[in-house]
Amino acid sequence: MLTTDWKPNKSSSVPLHQQITDFMKQKIANGEWTVGYRLPPQRTFAKALGVNRSTVVTAYDELIAEGLIEGKSGSGTRVVNNTWNLLATAPPPDWNSYVKVGTHKPNLPTIQEINQAEFTPNIIRLGTGELSPSLIPGNSMKQIFQQLSNKEITYGYEEPKGLLPLRKQISNYLRTIGISASPSSILIVSGALQALQLISVGLLHRGSAVLTEKPSYLHSLNVFQSAGMRLVGIPLDKEGIQAKLIPAYKKQQNAALLYTIPSFQNPTGTLMTEERRQQLLDFCQQEQLPLIEDDVYRELWLDETPPTPMKASDKQGLVLYLGSLSKTLSPGLRIGWMVGPEPVVDHLADIKMQTDYGSSSLSQWAAAEWFSSGLYAQHLVEVREQLKMRRDFTFDTLNKYFSELAVWEKPSGGFYIWLHLLPSLSMRKLFEKALAEGILLNPGNVYDHQAEQYLRISYSFASLPSIDDGLKRLSQIVKAIAK
Ligand SMILES: Cc1ncc(COP(=O)(O)O)c(C=O)c1O
Repeated sequence: MLTTDWKPNKSSSVPLHQQITDFMKQKIANGEWTVGYRLPPQRTFAKALGVNRSTVVTAYDELIAEGLIEGKSGSGTRVVNNTWNLLATAPPPDWNSYVKVGTHKPNLPTIQEINQAEFTPNIIRLGTGELSPSLIPGNSMKQIFQQLSNKEITYGYEEPKGLLPLRKQISNYLRTIGISASPSSILIVSGALQALQLISVGLLHRGSAVLTEKPSYLHSLNVFQSAGMRLVGIPLDKEGIQAKLIPAYKKQQNAALLYTIPSFQNPTGTLMTEERRQQLLDFCQQEQLPLIEDDVYRELWLDETPPTPMKASDKQGLVLYLGSLSKTLSPGLRIGWMVGPEPVVDHLADIKMQTDYGSSSLSQWAAAEWFSSGLYAQHLVEVREQLKMRRDFTFDTLNKYFSELAVWEKPSGGFYIWLHLLPSLSMRKLFEKALAEGILLNPGNVYDHQAEQYLRISYSFASLPSIDDGLKRLSQIVKAIAK
């Protein structure tokens, strides 16, 4: 689905097709749409602009007549000329060829579609892994910034590992969950995702494999693959990743690392048991296989506190532990942390300096204030309460509409329910049909390409009436497609 931040002005005296022609000409003239750029299909463009298709057809025809664009059957309509090009002595670079050879792989097409569609007004987002705007504590955030405005804070570049007052606060917080980590072994990152990026470019060599759960959030990214690594999925059961399979996988796959989400896994919601955590750590120690413990959902427990992190009993420095404020407080702050052996943290801090000179100092000060004021701990209590109510509501709603159509488990924390659809159907068709009806889905196959019959349902984002309405209509679409 295409979205655009420009829309024609329907109350203007300039005809709509003329406004669209002018808009497109401007894009071409200022080099935003370069020669070779493929224009959106007319139907899609018309929808994004909120006009009839015939209006867009007229605009395209005018540009074709002026020789700026050209339509070829099979390859769509492309920009073939621009005024700047006519005046310039040398032709402009063929950006498309640059894009194709860039080292970082693009997102999976479905992920690109999801990222775009999330900003469509009034769309019901049934799979979004984010707190609903109503769960983000806007008033307390204002209070935090007011408190900061009365303090002497810095606005310059910060130390390579991040703002010391924040690292001290995180060190204190980690002690409450059993991890003893001094500020010098903590790296502040712009979200846990950046830690993965730094690990992929800073620690691993091309051609090695990263073991992970199957399915996993990691499969929806291209972070490790772009750095020349392969992802290898190990099956999960109700207790977590099947740790006993690790020695065999390590040997067969030339594995360099294992990535796991032990608490309320994304996308299955699985909570790894204490025994399994111990077993996993034992196997990784035995195999000398470093471990990324991604614990971004840990604090979102709804029934009881999860078992202690593996990092707490890691005396060999095998575990790189990740946390973040994104899932519990605000993804917009872009604040996360990585805990590991000091040489690793120093090295990744050095790479981070080459990447962005550090995370926003304003965000780091705000995060430190959230911890030191006690507001973060208070907020967690509230967010758990709200999420628990949402989980129970969504569980009941699924029972209402999907009891004949799917099976699922009740998660004990996090955001997700891993819905196994029973009728055999095309996931692509379901995704498209739902999208056409204003319902955005996260298909299971982005987390495991074999998970064709699964959806990641999230109870954290959509409002309760939208969850009810969305699931009701989704059940009807499933029935219609399955016929
Ligand atoms: C398991 C897991 N790790 C990391 C992230 C990225 O979070 P952040 O916003 O901290 O980069 C996500 C977000 O979906 C996630 O689910």
